[in-house]
Amino acid sequence: MYKRTIYITREWMRNRMPVDAFIEHLKSKKVPMHRHSIWYYFGGLTLFFFIVQLVTGILLMFYYRPTPEHAYQSILFIMNEVSYGWVIRSIHSWAANFMIATLFIHLITVFFMQAYRPPREMMWVSGVILLGLVLGFGFTGYLLPWDEIAFYATQIGTEIPRTIPVVGDSIMMLLRGGREIGASTLTRMYALHVVVLPLATLLFVGIHLFLNQYYGVSKPIKVKSVREPIQFYPNFMLRDFRMWLVALLILLSIAMIFPWGLSEEADVLKPAPEGIKPEWYFLPLYQTLKIVPSRLWLFDGEAIVNVIFLTGGLLLILLPFIDGKSRKNESNKLVKVAGAIVLIYLILMMIFAYID
Ligand code: HEM
Repeated sequence: MYKRTIYITREWMRNRMPVDAFIEHLKSKKVPMHRHSIWYYFGGLTLFFFIVQLVTGILLMFYYRPTPEHAYQSILFIMNEVSYGWVIRSIHSWAANFMIATLFIHLITVFFMQAYRPPREMMWVSGVILLGLVLGFGFTGYLLPWDEIAFYATQIGTEIPRTIPVVGDSIMMLLRGGREIGASTLTRMYALHVVVLPLATLLFVGIHLFLNQYYGVSKPIKVKSVREPIQFYPNFMLRDFRMWLVALLILLSIAMIFPWGLSEEADVLKPAPEGIKPEWYFLPLYQTLKIVPSRLWLFDGEAIVNVIFLTGGLLLILLPFIDGKSRKNESNKLVKVAGAIVLIYLILMMIFAYID
């Protein structure tokens, strides 16, 4: 009888999976070495935390139940009954915060290095979209444990867009799935958190990384490279992985020494406890809303704050097209000073919200 055997050799694989060509491309990519090169690790670190979130998030999904009757109990079950459940939950919550922190550092450093100048405009645009998606993860994930803090913080959070002119009320209703926070809010936040946001983030991370491989790493305008650029593969990639190992060590230590907490189960009938605040990354908006008077001349104070923050977001995404100097590969002092002022303002608001 005729018997056909297929040998899966290295050669066979090479002809079907052009890994070699990809590795050759990675080898040809060079990373400039200068006194600001340390900042090149933060995009990679953000990617590392995103991978941690995907893995731990899938593990949590095996046990979590997204209904007001079961959500809190399922979190208790994960923490008390499931083997290593408490560590997985703690890692997921801590890594979310680390991811947002490294993402902000990445954004701030590429801003001041003006890495958004041609041909990397779409890297910047995809980056700002990723910022929105990652903040969305933080917002939607917060309600899922269905504890008191989560419940009231989401009540405050979903209230914020209400004052946006024309569409505000509809946005609030869309987020809540009705007038009040309830079962529909929880299922909506869950669907966004585990399906919509991960798919969209994977798509934009893919675009971002593809562009990064295609255009290579930029060098800040006025900085001189004193050392030879290094090959991305394997030299810089190994340095990236060394940073990932350090990050993993810090993450595991913090997650185990300070396990993520859980407050009382949410009770819709109970009054809101004192001092509920949103997560640290929403504090600048929260504090600004707090200090602005409810009426500013003819306008609603909250509406003005919302419009200012939305305009800020729009200017941020359009930055590469607004900054004419960067398009000519020149340093733009005005943009850097404006960026520094906004940054100082946001940090101050965060500090005031903490001590308030
Ligand atoms: C999930 C979020 C993100 C991930 C996983 C990510 C990942 C990366 C990685 C791995 C790199 C290459 C290494 C580096 O230069 O750091 C990079 C470069 C870059 N990223 Fe991001 N990034 C994210 C968000 C952002 C944001 C929010 C912005 C800005 C709004 C941004 C703008 C850029 C730019 C302009 C570069 C090119 C830097 C250069 O060539 O010098 N990224 N990103």
